[in-house]
Amino acid sequence: MKNYFLKNIEEMYDLAGKVASNITGGEIYTFTGDLGTGKTTFVQGILKSLGAIGPFTSPTFTIVNQYDLNNKNIKTIYHIDAYRISSQDTDSIGFSDMINDSNSLILIEWPEQIQSSIPEYSKNISFSWHERGRFVMLQ
Ligand SMILES: Nc1ncnc2c1ncn2[C@@H]1O[C@H](COP(=O)(O)OP(=O)(O)OP(=O)(O)O)[C@@H](O)[C@H]1O
Ligand SMILES: [Mg+2]
Repeated sequence: MKNYFLKNIEEMYDLAGKVASNITGGEIYTFTGDLGTGKTTFVQGILKSLGAIGPFTSPTFTIVNQYDLNNKNIKTIYHIDAYRISSQDTDSIGFSDMINDSNSLILIEWPEQIQSSIPEYSKNISFSWHERGRFVMLQ
């Protein structure tokens, strides 16, 4: 576990860039924390660092945003916001195909909603609110 206090969005993007530099394809990252604690901001930093083409909107209503990359090992990034779904809905978003693709990267906000569908090997990043920034914990 590593703990950080990040004072602004630039610092979020810097740490997201460090996480991104260790991604090789086939990973699943889960992002936990209350509403407005910075999960989407952090995901946007990862997308930017990996060279995805924006705009990087929040998948609040779309549930999944897909980014196709021109990268040797990471071909597709799926950004999922599971806030409005549950495990029964994972079939309809094609979740098992995403997991079985070793050239995908899956980034999931509100993983609690679909916990039983998420493989053990996923890595968690957790967020908490502070009036002067955000606490971020890397698993
Ligand atoms: N380190 C930070 N310091 C200060 N403000 C931040 C920081 N990181 C993000 N924010 C701001 O916090 C707000 C909420 O961020 P964000 O949308 O990323 O949260 P979220 O956890 O995805 O929320 P939700 O649960 O609704 O999806 C945004 O206005 C964002 O700019
Ligand atoms: Mg969000």
